[in-house]
Order: sequence, then C-alpha cells, then structure tokens
Amino acid sequence: HKTESGPKGGKAERFTKSGFILSAIGSSVGLGNMWKFPYITGKHGGAAFFVLFIGCLLVVGLPLLLAEMAIGRGGRGDAATAFVRLSGSRYWAGMGLFTVVTAFAIMAYYAVVAGWTIHYTIASFTGSLYRGAPNYEIVFNDFAGGYWPLFWQAVVMLLCGAVIARGVSGGIEKFNKILIPGFLILLLILMLRSLSLSGSSAGVSFFLEPDFSKVDAESVLIALGHAFFSLSLGMGCMLTYGSYVEKEQSLGGATMAIGGGDLLYAFIAGLVIFPTVFSFGLEPDEGVGLAFMALPAAFSKMPAGFLFGGLFFLLLAIAALTSAISILEVPVAYAMNKWRWSRRKAAVVVSVLCFLVGIPAALSVGGPLTDVSLFGRSFFDLFDFATAYIMMPFGGLIVTLFTGYVWKSVGEEAGLRGALFSAWLFLLRVVIPVVIVLIFLYSTGLLNL
Ligand code: PFF
Repeated sequence: HKTESGPKGGKAERFTKSGFILSAIGSSVGLGNMWKFPYITGKHGGAAFFVLFIGCLLVVGLPLLLAEMAIGRGGRGDAATAFVRLSGSRYWAGMGLFTVVTAFAIMAYYAVVAGWTIHYTIASFTGSLYRGAPNYEIVFNDFAGGYWPLFWQAVVMLLCGAVIARGVSGGIEKFNKILIPGFLILLLILMLRSLSLSGSSAGVSFFLEPDFSKVDAESVLIALGHAFFSLSLGMGCMLTYGSYVEKEQSLGGATMAIGGGDLLYAFIAGLVIFPTVFSFGLEPDEGVGLAFMALPAAFSKMPAGFLFGGLFFLLLAIAALTSAISILEVPVAYAMNKWRWSRRKAAVVVSVLCFLVGIPAALSVGGPLTDVSLFGRSFFDLFDFATAYIMMPFGGLIVTLFTGYVWKSVGEEAGLRGALFSAWLFLLRVVIPVVIVLIFLYSTGLLNL
C-alpha cells in the first residue's frame, strides 16, 4: 500500500468508515428533513407519498449520491480538481467550480437560518420566547427584522469555521460522531412526548394515512426534487466528503446507509411535528412558518413546553449545523487545493467571506433590506431560489452527465459490475438527466402541472 499524500505533500486527510457515514448523514439530515419532508408527505398522500419518495430515492437520489461520492474518491480532490483529474480536461474545472460557487452561495444564507435556530433554542430554554401573550408570527418578525440575526449568523460561521479548521477526522468527523447519534436520541424522546399528547393521533393520520388520490404528477416532481435536496446533491458536497473516503470502504454500502439514515430521521421528525401540531389545533405548515411560528404556540401551552421547545430547536440547530459544515467544506477544500492554503487559513478566509456575502440575506427578512429587490426577489429569497431551483439542478446535471458519458472507469470506483452497473449507467445517462430537467422546469414555473 502506498500512502496517498495530501495537497501540500503532507499525509492526506481521511475519514474513518463510521465517521464518513455519520458525517454524510449529518449533511443529508438538515432542515429539509425537519420542516419540509413531513409537510409534503402529509399534503401529498401520507404513506402513499412515503412509498413514492422511497422510489425516488432509489431511482434518482441514491444513484446520483453514489456517482458524486465516486467522483470525489476517484478524483481525490475538491469539486473542481476531481473533475479535471478524471477527465484529463481543464474544461471541466469550470463545471466543478460552478458547484463550488453554488455551495458558497447556499452557505451564505443557510448560516442565517441556522443562526435563527440557535437564537430560538436559547430563547426557548430560558423561557423568554414565551413571555407575554404573544402572536408568534409577530415574535418571529420582530426578531428576524432586527440586527440580532447578524450576530447569530456570525456565531454559526465561527462555529462551522472552527470545526472545519480542525480537519476532516479531528473536526468534521468528531463533531458528527457526537451530534448525529445524540440527535437520534433527542428525536426519539420528543417523539414519545409528542405521541403521548391528547389528540396526537390526528397528527399521525395526517402524516401517514395512505391516500392515493392525493398523489399526482406534481407529487412525483416534489418527491423527486426533495430526494435530490435531502441527500445534499448537486453542489459538490458529497463529492468533497467522498474525496476523504478510504479506498477500502464500500461506496455502495455507504450509499444505502446514508439513504436509510436520511429517511429514518425524516420519518421520526414527522412523528414529532404533526402529533404536536394537531394536538394543539394548529394548522400544518412547512418551513419557517412551521418551526418558528406554529410550533412555539404549541410549546407555550404544553406543560414544561420551554424544555421540549428548547429540545426541538436544539435539534433544528444540530440538523442545520451538521449540514452547514458539509456545505462550507466545499469551498474550503477548493481554496486549499487551488491556492495551496493551509486548512486553517482557508477556513478563516472562506468563513469571513461567506459571512459578508450573507449579510444582505440576513437583513432582508423583515429587516432594513427587505424592500431591496433583485430580479423581483429580496436577497434572502433570491439566494434560496437561485441555489435550490437553478444552481443545484444544474450541478446535478453536471454530475450525472459526467459519470454517464465522460468518465469511463466509473464502475470500478463505484464497485458495480454486470447488470447492476448497466442499470446504474442507464439511470445516469437517460433517466436522471430527464428528471432533473423536469424538476428544473417545474420549480422555476416553466412547466405547470
Ligand atoms: N440535505 C439538507 C437538508 O435536507 O436539509 C440540505 C442540504 C445540505 C443541501 C447540504 C445541500 C447540501 F449540500
């Protein structure tokens, strides 16, 4: 065995086997699992949608996840370097760089939301969130419209930057190895609490009762788009993590573990959220409205609600932070390779830049920059829309076409042979590109269903 060397000639950075799986699950389990998946499942047919979502994971999500990780490990580099090494063409550096820019842009506003979750965790544990007789929409707008979000955004960048500066095994892996199992335990505690509330069964039925009449073409595209987002695909994230995986580790096995983990956390999140929402007679919702406006009303009425609310927001914070770290690592790895920077320097410079770029996003959710619009959207909405609906699908297209048509020995890296390999290649070449284009057309409003 010859030991591979790192970008600066030192020993290359590597994950341990379990460290990789837990870190990749940490990346995939994010706000999408906690505040989007349960809602879209409830809205589009419960268990019927759940089965559909598993299908989308199998046909689109997991094959693409395997492809991204294989590119990272095969090319042994950041998102730009790996493409160039495997194709032997400089032209692909631009494509890879595109995913790096996507990650940077996502991080800029994801850190803002992650910051909100930290504020809410503290405000719930101390009880200050529930003081007075509040309307939680006003509470949220007052908070998000002020300057505190900037402070919390800075805290998030500092935290993520510090973890990343400690390296792959000493930082990223350690952080995830503690938080991801801890996450599951807290989630299960909250699930038991939630299911024991009176009237909770209405929430379980909303979430899981199969209703095939609610599944239509739109549900399929939503399921596909979510499979994509939920596995952190299309922005160099799984590629960069993949570049730190030992050759001995099975990527196929990792793919199944990450997909299963993502599904498990999303499923339990649904059993936390809807029993609570329905037991307190609230309307089911998704996203910001659900987490920051609907659920606090429930916690304020529940015995020891500050504690359960605090735990819930702590979970959101963990979900957001473990994902944020994986996003930030994409531009950090790029900077290290490109400019031969030390990890520490890259982490500091990229975090500071990302904080600066995120400031307009932080100040445009009810704050002083709310009315400044670019392409008809506030900064925050523009970051969200451009990255999730335009840049990530494009990044996914790059990955699928590259593995399908350009990189010839991808099968060896992925560990696939025979019929399974042919099926995978067919998905990458034909099915997934078509699906991505459809998702793109649908989410940008060009295709109406
Ligand atoms: N997978 C995360 C979620 O479901 O919330 C979001 C995400 C993280 C997307 C990391 C992209 C990414 F690179």
